[in-house]
Amino acid sequence: MSDIVKKAKKVAVLGATGLVGREMLKVLEQRDFPVSEIVPLASEHSAGQTIDFKGSRYTVSAVGPDSFNGADIALFSAGASPSKRWAPVAAEAGAIVVDNSSAWRMDSSVPLIVPEVNPEDIKEADKKGIIANPNCSTIQAVVALYPLHKAAGLNYVSYTTFQSVSGTGQEALEVLDTGSREILEGNEPSSSLVYPHPIAFDLLPHIGAFDIDGVSEEEWKMVRESRKIMHIDDLPVSCTTVRVPIFRSHGEAIVARFDKPLSPDEAREILKDAPGVNLQDNPGGSVYPRPRFAAGKDAVYVGRIRKDTGLEGALALWVVADNLRKGAALNAVQIAELL
Ligand SMILES: NC(=O)c1ccc[n+]([C@@H]2O[C@H](COP(=O)([O-])OP(=O)(O)OC[C@H]3O[C@@H](n4cnc5c(N)ncnc54)[C@H](OP(=O)(O)O)[C@@H]3O)[C@@H](O)[C@H]2O)c1
Repeated sequence: MSDIVKKAKKVAVLGATGLVGREMLKVLEQRDFPVSEIVPLASEHSAGQTIDFKGSRYTVSAVGPDSFNGADIALFSAGASPSKRWAPVAAEAGAIVVDNSSAWRMDSSVPLIVPEVNPEDIKEADKKGIIANPNCSTIQAVVALYPLHKAAGLNYVSYTTFQSVSGTGQEALEVLDTGSREILEGNEPSSSLVYPHPIAFDLLPHIGAFDIDGVSEEEWKMVRESRKIMHIDDLPVSCTTVRVPIFRSHGEAIVARFDKPLSPDEAREILKDAPGVNLQDNPGGSVYPRPRFAAGKDAVYVGRIRKDTGLEGALALWVVADNLRKGAALNAVQIAELL
């Protein structure tokens, strides 16, 4: 048996019919991850559908107690409640779970990993057999911030996000598509269960439920996950998350202050060689990161690096990445590669 065959893994993909699940299959194939067998899983709703992987056709099964038997790795992207239910079952069956949902991210015995930032935390995976993939907006923020933090000591960050509808899943793509057509035809956009208001031609500063103080779930995810991944427990984080009517990739306006103030040139020098980062910073030539350019690509694009106009000693940055690739599928497969 060749080394490759010995090392090839049986990979279960829960949520294989969704946006992230399909992107995970694409990334596994593109990166030539050593797969001996794919087990595509979803709900009853899409059981029996087929998916193609590396020239073979696989039938999607409804997830059940025996779904993970013999699996080495289980990539989950089916939402928090299926994850709470099935991740322990998969781990008990001997698989290492890499979970895209929010179910396990803040569990102290589950590592929350961005391979460019805290790959060493993977040793904690033994505790529960589960590794959490962070929220899409957090991933791209920390890939850009961590190299600056290592050089200068991050002591405050503010995020304002511009998040595409693909971050909400398959159904949201249709909601934006249909709503845009309805408005362009002179009609009121139909309402849906996906968002509290039609998203077409609008901005919704509402991602997840609001707490008693008016902070949204998405905002708390970015605050808590940034601290956990970068190991800065007391990092002050300001955050406003906004859903915007674009299909793919998230943008983020970030203001970051450091113990040792960095000039924009020093920041550019650090970021030009930083893992996972692609610098696009020539505003005079209209060169800066854009969601449509980033769609389908792997990098976290950083630009518009400048002195912040309000906060003494702070830098302002504009960061864009594909939420389905680095924000979800690619990061999950990179974690599987670390294993
Ligand atoms: N979209 C992003 O940018 C992004 C980024 C980071 C993390 N995530 C997380 O990834 C997860 C999936 O997101 P998505 O955008 O791919 O959503 P999606 O397009 O709506 O797909 C959801 C997938 O989960 C499956 N599923 C739903 N309920 C299930 C259940 N009870 N049991 C088994 N399978 C079930 C669906 O199967 P059926 O076809 O059978 O319904 C489908 O395959 C969510 O937790 C999301 O928060 C998403």
